[in-house]
Amino acid sequence: MARIPESFIQEVIQRTDIVELINSRVPLKKTGRNHSACCPFHNEKTPSFTVNADKQFFYCFGCNASGNAVTFLMEYDGIAFPQAIEVLAQQAGMEVPKEEESREDKARRQHSNTLLELTQRADLYYRQQLRGAAERQAAVDYLKSRAISGEIAAKFGLGFAPPGYDNLMSHLSLNSEGLAHAVSAGLLVKRDDSGRIYDKFRHRIIFPIRNSRGETIAFGGRLLGEGKPKYLNSPETPLFHKGRELYGLWEWRQSRDNSDSVFVVEGYMDVIALAQHQVPNVVATLGTATSEHHLRRLFQMVNRVVFCFDGDEAGRRAAWRALETALPALEDGKQALFLFLPEGEDPDSLVRTQGREGFLVEAEQAMPLSEFLLTHLSEPYNLDTVDGRAALARAASPYLQQVRGDFYRHLLRRELAQRTRLTEDELEVLIYQAPQQSISAQQPNPPQQLVPNRKKLPTRFTSSQRTQTLTLAEQLIVVLINEPERTQQFPLPEELNKLDLPHIDLLSTVYQQLKASPELSPAALLGRLMAQDKDQHLSQLLRTAHTAPMDKSTTERFCRDALLQLEIRIIEQHIIDETNKPTPDTKHLLHLHKQLDERRTQLGAPL
Ligand code: UTP
Ligand code: MN
Repeated sequence: MARIPESFIQEVIQRTDIVELINSRVPLKKTGRNHSACCPFHNEKTPSFTVNADKQFFYCFGCNASGNAVTFLMEYDGIAFPQAIEVLAQQAGMEVPKEEESREDKARRQHSNTLLELTQRADLYYRQQLRGAAERQAAVDYLKSRAISGEIAAKFGLGFAPPGYDNLMSHLSLNSEGLAHAVSAGLLVKRDDSGRIYDKFRHRIIFPIRNSRGETIAFGGRLLGEGKPKYLNSPETPLFHKGRELYGLWEWRQSRDNSDSVFVVEGYMDVIALAQHQVPNVVATLGTATSEHHLRRLFQMVNRVVFCFDGDEAGRRAAWRALETALPALEDGKQALFLFLPEGEDPDSLVRTQGREGFLVEAEQAMPLSEFLLTHLSEPYNLDTVDGRAALARAASPYLQQVRGDFYRHLLRRELAQRTRLTEDELEVLIYQAPQQSISAQQPNPPQQLVPNRKKLPTRFTSSQRTQTLTLAEQLIVVLINEPERTQQFPLPEELNKLDLPHIDLLSTVYQQLKASPELSPAALLGRLMAQDKDQHLSQLLRTAHTAPMDKSTTERFCRDALLQLEIRIIEQHIIDETNKPTPDTKHLLHLHKQLDERRTQLGAPL
């Protein structure tokens, strides 16, 4: 993303009327000099959200949310800063300056725009077909059989892909370059063997998947009857990343619902059925597991996320996966709950038979994360025995340590203490039976100026010293020693010596050694490393670090993110150095900021 000049940002804000902007999303009432409404950022019945036209600022007396047009958009639409500026600029008829954009960025953006345009055309086409296609009656009958109202079908932009292999293709009427674009957008399929190109969606009800701006970026398609595959989804494209998008999110935000919770369901039809029954705060993951990115986004908007799963074995497994993802996203004040539906029911069927109230009553039964966690972990143990309780304490500890919020972690620990019938002090001893060794004292803070919003990596390791957290370098060392092959996959950034961070030298040494002798067994490697480790830091570290079990893809992501984090700090250091010069080179600074943005967007992205 190109860096947007400060002056441009100022101008966009100047040209935006915050009252108009907010009014288009949350209808405002004029009250004296101010405008007011029920706050969209917390749940309330009497309006305490005010917008001041003179100051071009909003403030909520209920929840203290405040800000300007840009922060409002970011919060309300759940979008990032550059996107918010872009939306406002567009409304003001301004073009975001792109001169610093590199050639590749520009090409990428143009490519995306082309794909987006094609996707919009396809979207329109499918919707028209629901009204105009010769075979439309079957589609309309199907929607009726599922009791989908015309209103809700329109709200979700449902469409119809008629039977046949080239309906959309001939409608789009593209040249060969255009065809290639439609293939990259996932609208058409090109066979590897014959090179034949044809419509991806045939004889299916179409569910457009929209991004946070309401643009259709992909589709889901359902067969009208039985058959396989029941649902077909667009592939990953430059516009569509399953790990980042949520079905129904835009429609929910559009409904101006201000509940403080959201339901995460599995299917398109679940979202639609609930919305039709006045439960608009529902999103679905798109045939994938809930990602940490999904959750962070939802937790930006609400404090409670309620996962709905089938009551069967598969549902429980999916729920456990969601729990593992949720742990590092749980800041204080956030809550994750798990709703296990009766066997054979999904939210769609439930709300249709029980109605809105029935569904909400069922939803009240949702299990708090802590209960699900501790109950599930207890299963293999007999809690009537001391050994069983101790085993539970040990099994739970790595999960507890992943929780970001201190207060919440504390609560979990208290619950664990209750279940294990131990005092918290006893728990402490059981969990950390490893020899108590202190790790070298306090870490100096990395430079903070100019670098707000640094994303923290979830801490997955702690030392045996009660609350002392391992440094980034220490965490990497622990992981790498267990999986030395990662050093080949993820090289250490150059200029690491620029960083004045604790344990960076040790990390360098470990890296070099692991890389130089891939043939050695981990134990032999470790021996060699320890021999070189003058102040015995490494051995202390390994003796005291408790590693939460991680699966392969988690370690892979962890390594990638940790190294990105180091790169980010190196770039930040460059920025600080440059800014501190008597005459800073602005061009160089822009370049650095751009690099910084790139790295930051890579953080946490799917592998
Ligand atoms: P379900 O099989 O639970 O279907 O799939 P559903 O949502 O209840 O569908 P209806 O009620 O029979 O119409 C849940 C979700 O899993 C993905 C889709 O996103 C679907 O909404 N899925 C399912 C697929 O991607 N492909 C499939 O073949 C089936
Ligand atoms: Mn269903």
